[in-house]
Amino acid sequence: MSARRTLIAGNWKMNGLTAEAKALAGGLAEKMNAVGDVDFEMLICPPAILIPVVAAVVQGSNIKLGGQDNHANAAGAHTGDTSTAMLKDAGCTYAIVGHSERRTDHGETDQVVNDKAAAAHANGLIAVICIGETEAQRDAGKTLDVNGRQIAGSVPDGSTAENTVIAYEPVWAIGTGRTPTSQEVQDVHAFIRGELAKKIGDNEAAKTRILYGGSMNPKNAKELLALPDVDGGLIGGASLKVDDFWTVAQNA
Ligand code: 13P
Repeated sequence: MSARRTLIAGNWKMNGLTAEAKALAGGLAEKMNAVGDVDFEMLICPPAILIPVVAAVVQGSNIKLGGQDNHANAAGAHTGDTSTAMLKDAGCTYAIVGHSERRTDHGETDQVVNDKAAAAHANGLIAVICIGETEAQRDAGKTLDVNGRQIAGSVPDGSTAENTVIAYEPVWAIGTGRTPTSQEVQDVHAFIRGELAKKIGDNEAAKTRILYGGSMNPKNAKELLALPDVDGGLIGGASLKVDDFWTVAQNA
């Protein structure tokens, strides 16, 4: 039995308006409240502008809130960005950093991701650091190289099992309905844990949660979440429907 508590995290990305956010978060809070104690931790990461709306709805439930990104700096002239203090002020305890969509859309490098994760830590937020190879990198046999490099570059000094979660998201599996085989997922997760150990030590790495993300859904969640080094999921599309997300969580 692993001591790592399964984390079921929903990344809503740039989806939803006030009414939908209220209905989705409200539906999940209702289910969480109805079951009482659960073996997993549930996290939802709405668009920044909807965090206060969602915070009000999930108040009193066990659902945790996270940002989808944060700036590395504490405050200042960074138009359009969100600071870790703002996320915390709005009720977040987590922040996703280094999602492949940010790496692609905003040109974020490992160093930028590293700085953002360090900023999250400095403000008491748990950083969910995303890594993953593209399809071309996979086809070229570079999956482990790429993920190893991203761990080395994106995980800041001072990371621990308490303040850090890793999310392995093969870019080619995001929103495509395709996933690696279970054996491939397990192999990459075990490799990531080994690379993480080089940075933070065996003991912390053994306690750190490593999530799988990329087309996780109600059908494949059970098999993926049962893998020994998979400690939860970072879920996009299937986190936008109460029943789908809840079914995934039921497989934790
Ligand atoms: P999908 O679950 O839609 O493939 O998205 C995964 C993801 O990118 C979560 O961060």
